[in-house]
Formats: sequence, C-alpha cells, structure tokens
Amino acid sequence: MLLKILLGFLCGLSSLAEARDTSQRPPPLLIVSFDGFRADYLQKFPMPNLKLLYSQGVLVEHLNNVFITKTFPNHYSLVTGLYAESHGILASAMYDPASHKPFRAGRDKDPTWWNLAEPLWNTAQDSGYKTAAVMWPGSDVTIRNRTATHFFRYNSSMTFQERLGNVVNWMQGNRTNETVMFAALYWEEPDRSGHIFGPDNMTAMGKVLKEVDDNIGLLVSELRRANLWGRVNLLVTSDHGMAQCSAERLIRLDDCLNSSSYTLVDLTPVTALIPKQGNPEATFSLLNKCHQHMTAYLKKNIPERLHYRNNRLTQPIILMADEGWTIVQSGNKLPRLGDHGYDNSLPSMHPLLAAAGPSFRQGYRTRELQSVDIYPLMCHLLSVTPRPNNGSLAHSRCLLAGETCMEPALVAGLVVIVLVVLTVITVLFRLLRSRRPAGPRPFRRLQLDDDDDDEPLLE
Ligand SMILES: *[C@@H]1O[C@H](CO)[C@@H](O)[C@H](O)[C@H]1NC(C)=O
Ligand SMILES: *[C@@H]1O[C@H](CO)[C@@H](O)[C@H](O)[C@H]1NC(C)=O
Ligand SMILES: *[C@@H]1O[C@H](CO)[C@@H](O)[C@H](O)[C@H]1NC(C)=O
Ligand SMILES: *[C@@H]1O[C@H](CO)[C@@H](O)[C@H](O)[C@H]1NC(C)=O
Ligand SMILES: *[C@@H]1O[C@H](CO)[C@@H](O)[C@H](O)[C@H]1NC(C)=O
Ligand SMILES: *[C@@H]1O[C@H](CO)[C@@H](O)[C@H](O)[C@H]1NC(C)=O
Ligand SMILES: *[C@@H]1O[C@H](CO)[C@@H](O)[C@H](O)[C@H]1NC(C)=O
Ligand SMILES: [Zn+2]
Repeated sequence: MLLKILLGFLCGLSSLAEARDTSQRPPPLLIVSFDGFRADYLQKFPMPNLKLLYSQGVLVEHLNNVFITKTFPNHYSLVTGLYAESHGILASAMYDPASHKPFRAGRDKDPTWWNLAEPLWNTAQDSGYKTAAVMWPGSDVTIRNRTATHFFRYNSSMTFQERLGNVVNWMQGNRTNETVMFAALYWEEPDRSGHIFGPDNMTAMGKVLKEVDDNIGLLVSELRRANLWGRVNLLVTSDHGMAQCSAERLIRLDDCLNSSSYTLVDLTPVTALIPKQGNPEATFSLLNKCHQHMTAYLKKNIPERLHYRNNRLTQPIILMADEGWTIVQSGNKLPRLGDHGYDNSLPSMHPLLAAAGPSFRQGYRTRELQSVDIYPLMCHLLSVTPRPNNGSLAHSRCLLAGETCMEPALVAGLVVIVLVVLTVITVLFRLLRSRRPAGPRPFRRLQLDDDDDDEPLLE
C-alpha cells in the first residue's frame, strides 16, 4: 500500500517534471510542401481548404525562390536557408569532374553531395528535439552522419494519407516515443500533373488542385483529431511554380554544336555542359548566338543575382531557356507540356506560403518573401540557433503574432514620402538662396563675428 502511494507520488513527480519540461518548449512545427504549387493557382482555382487555412493565419502570395527553380535545390533551400551555390544541390542532375561521379535526384544516397549544408531536421536535434522528415528531398540521406529521428526511404507509392498519418502520430508522441518537435512532409502533386498536362490545362489542373486542396483539408482535420490544431505551427508551401511549354518552342542544341564535342550534365530548361577540349570560350561563342530564346553563360559570367556561380560543381557553361521554351539536343519531340527550372525572377516560377498556428498573426496577407527567409523563421519558431544562412528573420517579422513590425508597403511609402519632402526642402532652399542678393558683406560679417580681435583691423 505504502509502496503504491510512494510509486504513485514518484510517477506524479516525474510526469510533473515532464509537463514542466515540455511546457517550456515552443509549439511544434510542421512544414508541408506540395511540389510545383505555382503561386497563381490560388487565383485560378477555388482551393477552399487552403483559403480557410490562411484566413486563420497568414498568406505570402509570392515566394522568391532560388535558382535553378527545380525540386531538389529549392527543397534544400527551404530547410537550410541557403542559395543553391552554398548548399551544393545545384540541380536534379549534377556531375563531379573530380570524382567522375554523376548525381541523379532521388536515386543517389551518397551524402557527399549534401554535406555542404545541414538540414533543420538534423540541427534541431542539437536542441534535444525529436524530428521527422517524410519523403522530403534529402530526408533519406545520412547528411553529416545524421538523419531525422523518423524518416522513410523514398516511396512514391505511399499515399498522402499514409505519410500524414505517420507524421501526426509522431507529433502526438506517446509513453515510449517523445513528441516530434519539427516535421517536414512532402507530396508530389500538383507538380506531376503540371508536367504532364501543362499549367494552362484548366480541366486537368482543376482536378489535381481539387485533390491537393482536399489533402490540405485532411491535414487540418487530422491535426484537429489529434488535438494538435491550434497547438502546432503549420507551414504550407512549395518549391517552385510551372510554365506552359509547347512543341513550337523547342531549342535544338545540335543546330549549333556537334554533340560529340561536349559532355551534357543537365538539359532543360537550364543546360549544364562541359566542353570536351580546348577553351570553353570557343564553345560558348557558338552557343551564345545559337537561339534568341536561350542565353548562354560562361561560369564566371553567371549573374550574381542567381547565386549559382560560386560552387565547384557549377559547370563551365550553362544555358538558360526563356520562359516556356524547352532545350533538346535534336528532334521535334516535346518532353513535357509543363516545366520549371527557369529564371527565379519569373512570377510563374514562384510558389506561395500559407501558415497558421499560435505564433502567427490571423488574417494577415503580404505580397512576397524570399524562400531563404523561411529557414530563419522556422529556427525562431523552434528556438533553435540557425546555422549560417542567406535569409533574414527581419523579413518575416510581420507574419508573427505579438511582433511589432513595419509593413513592407508602409516602409516603401515612408521612404518615398521622406524622399519627396527632402527634395522639396532642397529645392526651396536653393530657390531662396538664389533669390537672396549675393554679396560679400554678410559673409564678411559672419567671419568677423567669429574673431573679435580682428575687428578693429578690418574696420
Ligand atoms: C561521420 O562518421 C564517421 C565514422 O563514424 C567519421 O569518421 C566522420 O568524421 C563523421 N563525419 C562527420 C561529418 O561528422
Ligand atoms: C511503398 O508504399 C506502398 C504503400 O504504402 C507499400 O505498399 C509498399 O510496400 C512500399 N514500398 C516499399 C519499398 O517500402
Ligand atoms: C508510440 O509511437 C511510436 C511512433 O509513432 C509507435 O511506433 C508506437 O507503436 C507507439 N506506442 C504506443 C504504445 O502507442
Ligand atoms: C520510437 O519509435 C520507433 C518506432 O517507430 C523506435 O524505433 C524508436 O526507437 C522509438 N524511440 C525513440 C526514442 O524515438
Ligand atoms: C487537358 O487534359 C485532359 C486530361 O485531363 C485532356 O483530355 C485534354 O485533352 C487536355 N486539354 C488540352 C487543351 O490539352
Ligand atoms: C561531329 O564530330 C565528330 C568527331 O569530331 C565527327 O566525326 C562528326 O562528323 C561531326 N558531326 C557533324 C554533324 O559535324
Ligand atoms: C550565403 O550564406 C553563406 C553561409 O553564411 C555564405 O557563405 C554566403 O556567402 C552567403 N551568400 C551570399 C550571397 O550572401
Ligand atoms: Zn518540384
């Protein structure tokens, strides 16, 4: 009897300690990516569940994502806050000239490609957190000797419901398995359908976006069922958009260059190639005037704004197709009706961000954010010290509840007003000065007042 009471007391104590321990923790965080969710799908299709979600939270209409606007580079940027040149996942197809190894997205589990950076599901474990990552690019790779606490080998056959079910269980936790504090969940649509049908096919895209929206509904209802809704911070986002392609917009490399003269690393819409011999400049000059809808860059001339040049694995020449154009080596066959990878300044390449949870404002909407800013935001939400990154928490302060922030539009407006006022003052001042009779006298007197001793002399 006494033993029972004592045991009960001890259990009570330990559960109290547990409660105290976890109550000091910030809310758990779940980020969900629906691959290839182009920002303006929200205007073109109904998406009632997504709208309900951000009406209770925040919406960022455009995420300025990273170049190249492909799946692997952008998903790695979301969880590292780094541009592709800094995290090293430059494309879905890469080649290392030193080791002669190729990289193929999804198939390659060699950590070497990923080790320049560390994803948040690893870093967050240093704060004592359990983490989970489900099908997110890189989640089944042992990056810097670690994976998330819970993960699966990539399996495209696993349904959204199955993936979500596991994530929710892990976030709920139980006696033997501590609550997961950070989880990343990936789903292949609407990217897959966007490639097959093209984003302009309203019938096909309407159907798949209805499914995506149903999955968002499922996400919220599952969180509710597990009593997690309102207690976790939820981010719904994506990696890139989608552009409509056409067989009328093909660029054939064979028209400009003998295919035996280079090694092809990646093809479209951004080609990466290595000239086989001689200096790259000769090959470059052939490609430079190859097609009016394709821009060629020598590595050293890749624009700074793309943040793509400063990596060992950026190839000597890259080619960039204009929006909606497809690069092929030969022939007339269009590989895909929809594609992405184009310049990240194109609105069609941008995804969006919706978020809700205890840390977010309610009913707030803003025009844009850099996708590299999401990483420092997530670190802040989890009280995890961010690793060096290219984002800034200052950019997303307005999304957060209880933060004083200046609306970007307001800041811009204020800057304009201040500039106008300054200009008016300057003009008025000049005008007044030019009207005043110019003469040496007032000047002299001023100087005289300064120095009393000289007064008699000058008088
Ligand atoms: C990973 O583990 C191996 C052997 O266990 C060790 O030699 C290596 O230094 C570790 N690498 C990192 C990045 O910690
Ligand atoms: C992939 O997921 C499906 C659906 O859950 C399952 O039936 C299948 O066994 C899985 N494949 C592997 C290799 O785990
Ligand atoms: C606890 O959670 C883990 C992971 O979700 C699960 O595998 C296990 O079956 C659960 N245990 C109990 C007793 O529910
Ligand atoms: C959690 O559950 C999994 C099974 O899902 C198990 O392998 C693992 O060891 C458990 N423990 C912890 C601490 O997460
Ligand atoms: C759109 O996609 C549907 C399949 O959902 C297909 O039957 C139809 O031909 C496509 N329309 C166009 C204009 O490509
Ligand atoms: C391409 O180059 C190879 C090897 O130099 C040569 O044999 C072939 O005839 C060339 N093809 C064309 C179309 O010029
Ligand atoms: C991005 O962040 C990394 C890590 O701090 C840094 O090395 C790199 O110079 C940054 N890039 C830019 C363009 O600031
Ligand atoms: Zn993608």
